[in-house]
Amino acid sequence: MPADEFVTQSSEETIAKGREIAGKLRPPVLVLLKGDLGSGKTTLTKGIISGLGAAKEEDVTSPTFNLVHEFRIQNLGGSKSSSPPCKVYHVDLYRVENFHDLESLGLEDALSEKAIVIVEWPERFTFRTDWPTIEIRLDHAGRDSRRIAISDLSAENRLT
Ligand SMILES: Nc1ncnc2c1ncn2[C@@H]1O[C@H](COP(=O)(O)OP(=O)(O)O)[C@@H](O)[C@H]1O
Ligand SMILES: [Mg+2]
Repeated sequence: MPADEFVTQSSEETIAKGREIAGKLRPPVLVLLKGDLGSGKTTLTKGIISGLGAAKEEDVTSPTFNLVHEFRIQNLGGSKSSSPPCKVYHVDLYRVENFHDLESLGLEDALSEKAIVIVEWPERFTFRTDWPTIEIRLDHAGRDSRRIAISDLSAENRLT
């Protein structure tokens, strides 16, 4: 499936793109963020999680050492809707080295409730889930430029 592609020229623009993406996310959903160190995965996540109303931008930081950060949305979609509270997980698998580490992360638990799960370095793990899955690839495209390609893997699966 052809990916939706954008180029941003600053981290602010990438955060704005993240907020835009947030508006389209409904739990359960798995968001896989691929790309080199410094490509903007955490920056995009600041936009997604703040856009979901789960935290302030500055409170979304890299979970490189903790591996998983957990947030909660009281009311997805604003005060007029009555959707139940929902958890948002921000995971970074960069430092995960073996299966023992993964089990200690409690990722299976995260995937057993209807949540929004955002994963940096998803290549480190095989996600066995029937959840809708969105893959976002970020690439350096010059100094402060980043190419962002979004594909809906669940749509791809439906077609095959
Ligand atoms: N267009 C851009 N989009 C995102 N980040 C950018 C951009 N231009 C420069 N940057 C900088 O690049 C770095 C991206 O870091 P980060 O989001 O932590 O990357 P990752 O999580 O992929 O390792 C930040 O220092 C950010 O300020
Ligand atoms: Mg990061």
